[in-house]
Amino acid sequence: MTSTKRSFGMHPNLLFDVILRQAGTLQKALLEGVMNAIDAGATECRITLDTHSFTLQDDGRGFQSHQEIEDFFETFGTPHEEGDAVYGRFRMGRGQMMAFGRNIWRSRQFEMDVDIKNSGLDYALTEHADIFDGTRISAELYEPIAPSELERIKNELRKFVAWAQIPVTLNDDVLSRRPEEAKWDFEDDNAWYSLSADRSQLAVYNLGVLVNSFWSGRFGMGGTIVTKRQVEINFARNDIQSTCPVFRKIQDEIKKRAGVATKKKTKLNDAERDMLVRDFLAGEADIQEAAKLRVLTDVNGRSWPIDKLLSVGHQFGGKLIVVPRGDQMVETAQRRGIAFSIDEATLERFGATDGHAFLARIQSACNTMMQTMPRNALFTAKGVLVQRMARGFADHIEIVDRDYLSAFVSSDYIALTHKDLTADQKILLDAVSTANSVLVTALRRTGYEDREYTQRKVYLGTSETALAWTDGTSNIWVEAEHARLLRRGYPGAYQIALTLLHEHLHSGPDTGTHEHDHSFFQGFHDLSGHPADPVGVAATRMVKIFAARLRRHGKKVSAKLLEQDDADLVIEETLKTAEAQDA
Ligand SMILES: Nc1ncnc2c1ncn2[C@@H]1O[C@H](COP(=O)(O)OP(=O)(O)OP(=O)(O)O)[C@@H](O)[C@H]1O
Ligand SMILES: [Mg+2]
Repeated sequence: MTSTKRSFGMHPNLLFDVILRQAGTLQKALLEGVMNAIDAGATECRITLDTHSFTLQDDGRGFQSHQEIEDFFETFGTPHEEGDAVYGRFRMGRGQMMAFGRNIWRSRQFEMDVDIKNSGLDYALTEHADIFDGTRISAELYEPIAPSELERIKNELRKFVAWAQIPVTLNDDVLSRRPEEAKWDFEDDNAWYSLSADRSQLAVYNLGVLVNSFWSGRFGMGGTIVTKRQVEINFARNDIQSTCPVFRKIQDEIKKRAGVATKKKTKLNDAERDMLVRDFLAGEADIQEAAKLRVLTDVNGRSWPIDKLLSVGHQFGGKLIVVPRGDQMVETAQRRGIAFSIDEATLERFGATDGHAFLARIQSACNTMMQTMPRNALFTAKGVLVQRMARGFADHIEIVDRDYLSAFVSSDYIALTHKDLTADQKILLDAVSTANSVLVTALRRTGYEDREYTQRKVYLGTSETALAWTDGTSNIWVEAEHARLLRRGYPGAYQIALTLLHEHLHSGPDTGTHEHDHSFFQGFHDLSGHPADPVGVAATRMVKIFAARLRRHGKKVSAKLLEQDDADLVIEETLKTAEAQDA
């Protein structure tokens, strides 16, 4: 038997792949060039970019000798010595620029002509008599960029270098700012911080250069962090190494602030909920607060504390269902106490794939908490809630699905045709329809956010789950029972008019799922309270038409309806008296 020591080699093709395939985007490649310029001690870096080419020019030290060209330019992967560069790590980054086009590098007396696509790993090195101060890289792109794409690339590059340590210009516009001159929420030895609980992304700049924008839930807050000290990043330079001691301190600081902000806030956002749940699952939540963390989101988007699960047994017959936000049928089931719902985002928040796993995770987190908490903390009222959850939910919660609920709640929307309607319903419909046209005209007049409204035809219908529904374009069905509110006079009419407004703000069908985003609520809020009062105008007309039609058909007009006529009279007279007094 013979054994020999052998070592791995590298086929040149691997290098070729490394150069061509490490490249992400052109803007990332340009960022590599900027980082190299900073490493070369440049005081500025000028970039030009158009649809066919780019250049990067800096006034740094350049390649000082033939040896440097051989070791650092010609050879990929030559190790760095500790502390010889801020950003440079792998001696690979330049390959990204080479992947996008033929590169001509001019640096001091040297010129390197690299054309990976056509000449592979061979390049031409020329030595000039004259010295170029700094380094300039000019490239002709292998694939031209579409003009629309160009804008996107520029914007992204702007973001990448926003806080670079040296001025970076793009086609003569300055892209970067000095963090020292900007306004921050606070700073410490490690970083400048601008944090907000309402932002969904946290942009992290490693010494001024963007590492990535992270989902704010990962750290508990969104905003911007510019580090003052080097943070350790991964090979792809798009994430922070979890072991990095500098970033750990920064992270603690963010968490501290997020914690303070979260405790003060009565309404949490998803990022904050995600963060609280992470601590909860790790058994690190404060036991006095754990059970009351409002991190369950139901089908309506409302949030509930975790210990709501303890009341599912007696309030909802022990039934729990997981559904996407806005499921009409489940909304109704929950309203009627048939089942409690959590939405799919909640499941994700708890890292669970189904309802059973979700409950199991809560149970196990509560168990962890019990083991680590001092015993006296456990026997407070809130500690007891955690103890109860630690026993699990198997006895009193059953996970059900939509089929189960559909036995109790029909999700049918039945449109009534004209011949289905009673004489009374026809009169109701007449009044609601007219008020609907009045509403649309009034909404258009508000000019709110340039929104557009179509005249939609109104019908009556029956449904167990909805007050009204729409196809989002030309029809609205008002639930017949809901329309009967009009018999109560103006207050009823106002409710119906609000329902109509709700339907007009849906620009798609709302029968299956019925999700309301922020802009929906904002619109609903602003329009229902608009000074022109479109809802009030529609409601007033609804009552008047209803009373008039009843009279015409020789039907009794109730006192409730007459109140409106009376109120008008009273107001008119009050105004008259006031005017007389003024005169
Ligand atoms: N603008 C420049 N001015 C002077 N030297 C440069 C410039 N750009 C690159 N170099 C030299 O070329 C080397 C290789 O650059 P490259 O970007 O490939 O690797 P790196 O910056 O060392 O490491 P990394 O792979 O992390 O970017 C650098 O280490 C530096 O010595
Ligand atoms: Mg580099």
